[in-house]
Amino acid sequence: MENKMRMRNKYRKPTTLHCYAGSRYSKLSIVVCSLIGCLIMFHFYFLNQSQQSQTGVPQMQSNYHPLYRELIEVEDDTIKIPPPRKRSPRAIKRKPKRPTTLIEEFLDESSQLRYLFFPGVKTAIDPMKDGGNESFYYHPGRIWLDTDGNPIQAHGGGILYDDRSSMYYWYGEYKDGPTYHAHKKAAARVDIIGVGCYSSKDLWKWKNEGIVLPAEQTDETHDLHISNVLERPKVIYNQNTNKYIMWMHIDDTNYTKAAVGIAVSDSPTGPFTYIKSTRPHDSDSRDMTIFKDDDNTAYLIYSSDDNSELHIGPLTQDYLDVTPVVRRVLVGQHREAPALFKHEGTYYMVTSGCTGWAPNEALAHAAENIMGPWETMGNPCVGGNKVFRLTTFFAQSTFVFPLPGFPGVFVFMADRWNPADLRDSRYVWLPLLVGGPVDRPLDYSFGFPLWPRVSIYWHKRWRLPYKLSAKK
Ligand SMILES: *[C@@H]1O[C@H](CO)[C@@H](O)[C@H](O)[C@H]1NC(C)=O
Ligand SMILES: *[C@@H]1O[C@H](CO)[C@@H](O)[C@H](O)[C@H]1NC(C)=O
Repeated sequence: MENKMRMRNKYRKPTTLHCYAGSRYSKLSIVVCSLIGCLIMFHFYFLNQSQQSQTGVPQMQSNYHPLYRELIEVEDDTIKIPPPRKRSPRAIKRKPKRPTTLIEEFLDESSQLRYLFFPGVKTAIDPMKDGGNESFYYHPGRIWLDTDGNPIQAHGGGILYDDRSSMYYWYGEYKDGPTYHAHKKAAARVDIIGVGCYSSKDLWKWKNEGIVLPAEQTDETHDLHISNVLERPKVIYNQNTNKYIMWMHIDDTNYTKAAVGIAVSDSPTGPFTYIKSTRPHDSDSRDMTIFKDDDNTAYLIYSSDDNSELHIGPLTQDYLDVTPVVRRVLVGQHREAPALFKHEGTYYMVTSGCTGWAPNEALAHAAENIMGPWETMGNPCVGGNKVFRLTTFFAQSTFVFPLPGFPGVFVFMADRWNPADLRDSRYVWLPLLVGGPVDRPLDYSFGFPLWPRVSIYWHKRWRLPYKLSAKK
């Protein structure tokens, strides 16, 4: 994450309607132009009204396959803030402002509501227990055990589907170490341990494949020295070289290096050999992801210019470096944690704002061309309650992957960071569907199509519309 600090979200641009009345035209044309503008605005307003209910729900997609319906059922979630505790005058003097909002409760380690956000080990998802009626159910926010019974350590992660082994691999930050602050002003951190890898056939039972890229213990000048930062590792396969290529965010404790690192392996389960770090396109690079397109061109997407904008550019054929080609997108919008996916030829991206470990509002973006221009569509979160939707269900995007055989259905992966104990950060996996008109065009301008809506549906408990294990 996340050169936290200063960043404030300035992305909420008002809806702008560009209507160019050149100087040659009379005042009349300006009036006509504004009228058209007004009509369009009314159109959107009513579109909005008819689509948007109390729960932030878009119009219901009745034409979906019956198996989808469970995914798009809208679940409300009302969390009641308990009445104020009785506090001694001394305690009030020490800490006069007691937490009142849900976000404050979430960030307060001693909150009485803690168990709602970080449920205890008793409720852990354990795929090795005879699951019975719990088999294959995701419970966003609960502890999720691997097949050895240990909590999965794959934070800020991503999924690779490997055709050669017909397996899913989940890579992420292995953070099973103590959380501390390197100095007074530093963000909470865990020393680099390495990149964890888990394998699965069904996306539910995950086997620990070990640390596939370990930290460097002794050489302080090494990028992977334990005192540095390794975040958001992502792996793709290169069919020209038959290699698995990992890209990750590499930084120092203070997030001033702002680089990407590249590693390579012959096998999805490693070991990966670290190659180098680089500042892509001579730019600072923090939160990042990579995306492999249908034509096998891969792209690097990263937050740059102090996280104020994203950069996107194609990788070389071997995926081991960037090419000189780069575009700046979402300029001035201060987005990070990009997760990119494609549906019916259109590119989509979910991003978060920049508020460090604290959760914030997700936004969905779309583009006809991956190199841009990218348009911001709005908050994709549906269900839960208002605070859930304004905090991405108290989590931050990290990856989106398609469910094979179910066009338009994706799994949205996010991290519910626990800055008090980062190893205990939780995973929030939810169904993401693309369909229906966008409900709140933030950035609409003429010449761009209206994109279908990206919706992430909150569920306390849900499962995939079929058993992958049974299919294979
Ligand atoms: C699963 O089955 C058990 C025992 O039959 C039952 O107590 C429990 O409520 C069920 N859980 C769900 C989520 O349906
Ligand atoms: C990080 O910043 C602190 C305080 O400004 C400084 O003391 C420390 O040397 C810096 N560390 C690195 C690795 O740059």
